[in-house]
Amino acid sequence: MKGAGWLDAALEATVVGGFSRLGYAARSRMFDWPADPDLTGLRVLVTGGTSGLGFAAANRLANAGARVAISGRDQARLDDAADRIGAGAARPVTTRADAGELDEVARSFHEAVAGLGGLDVVINNAGALTHDYRTTSQGYEQTFAVHVLGPFLLTELAIPQIGAHGRIITVASGGMYSERLDPATMQMTREDYDGVAAYARAKRVQVSLNAQWALRLPDGPVFAAMHPGWADTPGVQDSLPGFRRITAPILRTPDQGADTAVWLTYAQVPTGQFWLDRRPRSTVRIPGRGADPKDAERAFHEVADMVAAYGPEAEVAASLPTIEA
Ligand SMILES: NC(=O)c1ccc[n+]([C@@H]2O[C@H](COP(=O)([O-])OP(=O)(O)OC[C@H]3O[C@@H](n4cnc5c(N)ncnc54)[C@H](OP(=O)(O)O)[C@@H]3O)[C@@H](O)[C@H]2O)c1
Repeated sequence: MKGAGWLDAALEATVVGGFSRLGYAARSRMFDWPADPDLTGLRVLVTGGTSGLGFAAANRLANAGARVAISGRDQARLDDAADRIGAGAARPVTTRADAGELDEVARSFHEAVAGLGGLDVVINNAGALTHDYRTTSQGYEQTFAVHVLGPFLLTELAIPQIGAHGRIITVASGGMYSERLDPATMQMTREDYDGVAAYARAKRVQVSLNAQWALRLPDGPVFAAMHPGWADTPGVQDSLPGFRRITAPILRTPDQGADTAVWLTYAQVPTGQFWLDRRPRSTVRIPGRGADPKDAERAFHEVADMVAAYGPEAEVAASLPTIEA
């Protein structure tokens, strides 16, 4: 459509226009926006598949013919989500794991691969904005562990399994635009913990790691981080009730928020990018709040070391070349 690029840029510049359902509605009309192809044969693990965006993605993938595994912390919620996947689609494999507990992540990965008979795509989606300070059983701050350590381990385990044709998709957040990557403060302490800042930092780290993985493995798999805009999910309702009250009329549906993550499972895209509404987006909106290349390199190694300390299964990152910043 003539003028589409200009309108897209204008929406992006306003934040509210780009992140809300207005942005989704405009872009899905003005860009080439094909429906999903037949995804029969594709095997996808969606973490956090019981609710919100993860459920929407799993449901859509299953209805397009993909075999899907969903993970979450509670077996009853997993069973309920599996029951709600549309009739006619294969029932998803369910596997219980807290995304911040590394032993559970590893077990769950193997259960998903066994249940699906292999694996092609991981959607690292599980996440939450948690207002109180908590630690995992290994002593890591929970927001950091759930969004960074668990997904990193899952990525390491998945890489040899999915091979160069596979994809690792990360559901990050536009909230990350408010934070600079600082390897020294990726993990907040009990004293300085602020849930919103911890969440934004963890999402910034996710986006930086996505680019770092792509630099190290340029021949595949495809690494893609995306942000869903603002979608009306149980997560937003629980963690940001004030925000939700004000923005409710313009929030995206979970299906709209999950659209780009689903599209990234099959679209021909370059590796290492950050996406919203099927287009690559800048990772910096506020000058000085991005990721310096040396910090990005350091953060990758620090996270890899923390995950490697977990055990022998996590050794992919250690064997990868260092990137000269
Ligand atoms: N909605 C938005 O506008 C928005 C915007 C930006 C980014 N995001 C991101 O999108 C992702 C999905 O969020 P949502 O809005 O769909 O929230 P949601 O409705 O609360 O769903 C979150 C999902 O993650 C799972 N989960 C949460 N903490 C977990 C943990 N420690 N271990 C394992 N699973 C966990 C939940 O499963 P159980 O509770 O069953 O364990 C649930 O399936 C998150 O990463 C979030 O940061 C959302």
